Amino acid sequence: PGVLRLAPSILSADFSRLGEEVRAIERAGADLVHFDVMDNHYVPNLTIGPLVCEAIRPHVNIPIDVHLMVEPVDALIPLFAKAGANIITFHPEASRHVDRTLSMIRELGCKAGLVLNPATPLACLDHVMDKLDLVLLMSVNPGFGGQKFIASTLTKLRAVRQRIDAHVAAGGQPIWLEVDGGVKTDNIQHIVQAGADTCVAGSAVFGAPDADGGYRSVMAELRR
Ligand code: DX5
Ligand code: ZN
Repeated sequence: PGVLRLAPSILSADFSRLGEEVRAIERAGADLVHFDVMDNHYVPNLTIGPLVCEAIRPHVNIPIDVHLMVEPVDALIPLFAKAGANIITFHPEASRHVDRTLSMIRELGCKAGLVLNPATPLACLDHVMDKLDLVLLMSVNPGFGGQKFIASTLTKLRAVRQRIDAHVAAGGQPIWLEVDGGVKTDNIQHIVQAGADTCVAGSAVFGAPDADGGYRSVMAELRR
């Protein structure tokens, strides 16, 4: 495996100072900004949309990783692409035409990915491997930060890793494997060993005591 990518989720940031918060995580060594979009329909919570993405865009150079927990999906995609998103992922059951939605994301110049909930079977990847830039595996049920990592994700993670490796070995494009939910310093080693190359961490990073030293030392600890 190559170098681990860390994607702090701004869901646990101080929303009154979001520009400073994303600058702080970039300075502290984050690889991506994980941006959780919730609609009080697909998930029972409500967060942020394209306007906020556009507002933080000039504050960082690292890619913005937009995780759409919304239903329906399609209408928001051009808005997020225009707002400066670099990666857009969605839950397959929230789109009526998954193949079309993936194509739409890529045609707008973004990387495209599917998000699998803890109970979503891997079969949803079967016929779209060629259209994926990443797979986002949920290790909690989506909707809230600060939940406990679901242990069975590790078995599922190994299975997705095998599928991706087989796809690449057969000449397919690279596909990132990202894990989201309950990632902490005490379990990240198992997550990476099971095949993740990208880890979201919300409460683990933003729960650190002070922005500057704190974010940097948590991220260094996660990488270690
Ligand atoms: C949950 C979100 C996650 C969340 C992770 O629905 O998709 O990105 O912010 O937060 P932690 O790392 O605290 O579990
Ligand atoms: Zn997320």
